[in-house]
Order: sequence, then C-alpha cells, then structure tokens
Amino acid sequence: SSPLRLGIAGLGTVGAGVIRLLHANADLLHARTGRTIEVVAVSARDRTRDRGVDVSGLRWYDNALDLVSDPDVDVVVELIGGAEGPARALVEAALKAGKPVVTANKALVALHGSALARLSADNAAPLLFEAAVAGGIPAIKTVREGLAADRLLRVGGILNGTCNYILTVMRETGQDFASVLKDAQDLGYAEADPTTDVDGLDAAHKLTILAGLAFGRPVAFDSVHVEGIRHIGADDLAFARQLGYRIKLLGLARMTDDGLQARVTPCLVPQHAPLAQVDGVFNAVVAEGEFVGRIMVEGRGAGAGPTASAVTADLVDLARGQAITLWGVQSGTVEPVRACPISVG
Ligand code: NDP
Ligand code: HSE
Repeated sequence: SSPLRLGIAGLGTVGAGVIRLLHANADLLHARTGRTIEVVAVSARDRTRDRGVDVSGLRWYDNALDLVSDPDVDVVVELIGGAEGPARALVEAALKAGKPVVTANKALVALHGSALARLSADNAAPLLFEAAVAGGIPAIKTVREGLAADRLLRVGGILNGTCNYILTVMRETGQDFASVLKDAQDLGYAEADPTTDVDGLDAAHKLTILAGLAFGRPVAFDSVHVEGIRHIGADDLAFARQLGYRIKLLGLARMTDDGLQARVTPCLVPQHAPLAQVDGVFNAVVAEGEFVGRIMVEGRGAGAGPTASAVTADLVDLARGQAITLWGVQSGTVEPVRACPISVG
C-alpha cells in the first residue's frame, strides 16, 4: 500500500530523534503498519547546522508553511515548539488544508486546544499529540483510551523531566540549581526557554491537557494554579530528607463538589511512596478512577529517544488509520472549563 509521507518542521532534539528512529526502525514500522513511513521534506532555521542525522536528500523549506502546500506531504509533523508564532501558524494551516498533524507541542495544545479541536473536526484532519505529555510515557493513550470506560476522579503526577532531574541531582550531589539546569539543557531535556520548565508552566501545560482528557472537556490553562522550583534550595531538600520526605514538583487535578481543581506545586512526598522513587528525568502519570482505582505509569519524560518514540507512535496510528478525536468525545462543546480557585495557605 501507499507510503505515509511526512513533512517535519523542527530538527532539534525531537525532530532529529524522530528521523533517527524512523531510520532505525523502518522495517519494524513497515511490518506493524503495512506501509512505509518516510520523510520527504523538512524545515528548520539553519540549513548548515549539523544535526547528527542526514537530511541532505530531503526537500528543505526555509518557510515551514511550504510543507502544507507540498502535495507530496501527507502529514505535517510540528516539532518547532511555542504556543504562538510559526508553530501555531503551521498547525492551523495544515488542519485547514485537511492535512493530519502530529505535534509534541504541549504549550500549543494547552493554550489553543479548543480552537484546534474545532479546526481538526471541521476539516476531518486528525491532530495527534502523544509526545506532548510526559515524553515517552503513553500518557494520552493511557488516560483517553486505556481509561475510557471509567469516571476519573484525579489525574496528574510528575510531569516535568527537567525539574525532576534538577531536584534529584541537587538532592543526591548537593550541586547548585544553575549547574544542574545547565546539564538538563545539554541533555536535551529543557525547553528552548527553560524558565518554562523551572517556573512550573510546562508541567501546567501538560496537566491542562491531561485534565481535559480525564474530565472530558478542555481546561482553561490560566485557571491552573502554578508554582515552580526556583525557590527550592539544597537546605530545603536536606530538611525534607531528615523528615522522611522528598520534594517533587507535582501537577494534580481533581474533581470536587465545587468543580475542578488543578495545581502545579512542589510537594513533600513520603520517601517510601511510589512517586518519591521516580527520580531523574523520569516522569510518572497517576490517575484514579471509580472502577479501576489508582494507577501509575512511569518512564522517561524528556529527551530525544523517548519523545521520538511517542511522536512515532502517533504516526503509526495514522498509518493504520486509527487516529481518534482530540478530546475523545464524539460531539458537543469544546469550550474550556475553568478550574476553581485554590486557596493556598
Ligand atoms: P529544539 O529547540 O531542540 O528544536 C526546535 C527546532 O525548531 C530547531 O530545529 C529549530 O531550527 C526549529 N525552528 C525554530 N523556528 C523555526 C521556524 N520558524 N521554522 C522552522 N523550524 C524552526 O526543541 P525540541 O526538539 O526540544 O522541542 C520541540 C518540541 O517538542 C517543543 O514543542 C517541545 O516542547 C516538545 N517536546 C520536547 C521534548 C524534549 O525532551 N526536548 C519532550 C517532549 C516535547 P534550528 O535547528 O535551525 O535552530
Ligand atoms: N522540557 C520538558 C521536560 C520536555 O523537561 O519535561 C518534555 O516535555
């Protein structure tokens, strides 16, 4: 059958990782989908940069929007990042043109998910974003598909690899915040602007998406309470340890009698609790449903390999013709719901 032809925008940590995985696992992907998944065109800013993958035989566009008008591109893969600017313009243009989109962009989906859902539905163009939450963990599939039959009460977890890495290394080695953040950047874990990570916004983007999937309606990002980890020092980590706790940046959303509560905050977790054992770049997605009870899924939450795995899983779904609707609801409103204020004292 016909190949699935990709146009990839963004050839950084994730984009190069996807090209590497598609090459390494070409035979396996063909066996699993019955189709060849091939990259035909790419776009990034700097043509001369060495990306560790060979893009010399591929069509190159300086303007990512040209991927949309290229008739050989069946699927647009957006790996630029950012909620606005070129990433948003590209995703909107592709959906309007009826082309399926795969993205790892949590900021975009968290802030504009409702409008994108409408574009996706109106143009019968799937929008897939498995890599947007918790890197290599199949978090979207777990919540939207794996728990599709249950009424969920809580969802969340350790949702930022950079912060968990920083808190872990500071705790274990006593290194200062700035040098561990630099390591996380060098390892490809951090966002282009790492304040997004350390101020809790990236975890809040992911919580916004997860809560929307768990509770069946998109959540308004600006109603999520957000705190980061900048103010946590070595002393705090040491005191926590003496008291039998570890400090983790957690994102948690739950349905209460007053409505949805959603918050990202550093928390004291008892050191023998499963969440406390999730260290380094690992993330954990937790959920609680009426019938299933509590579940926790753990894995690498950032980096080229895990994220490429999640992006490519979406491509496999498209190749198999298995893409499902954005929020997992077949009809009805996609207006965001606001979380209720949380008093912190
Ligand atoms: P990088 O900063 O490593 O890569 C971004 C890429 O986008 C670069 O190749 C850059 O080009 C390209 N780019 C920038 N502007 C444009 C433009 N106008 N047109 C075309 N290309 C452009 O980011 P990551 O790979 O780390 O992240 C990409 C996305 O994946 C983000 O949404 C991020 O949040 C998400 N993500 C990242 C994870 C990670 O572990 N890194 C994990 C999960 C999701 P050039 O190289 O020429 O500068
Ligand atoms: N910067 C993000 C993190 C990348 O550290 O978790 C994965 O979404």
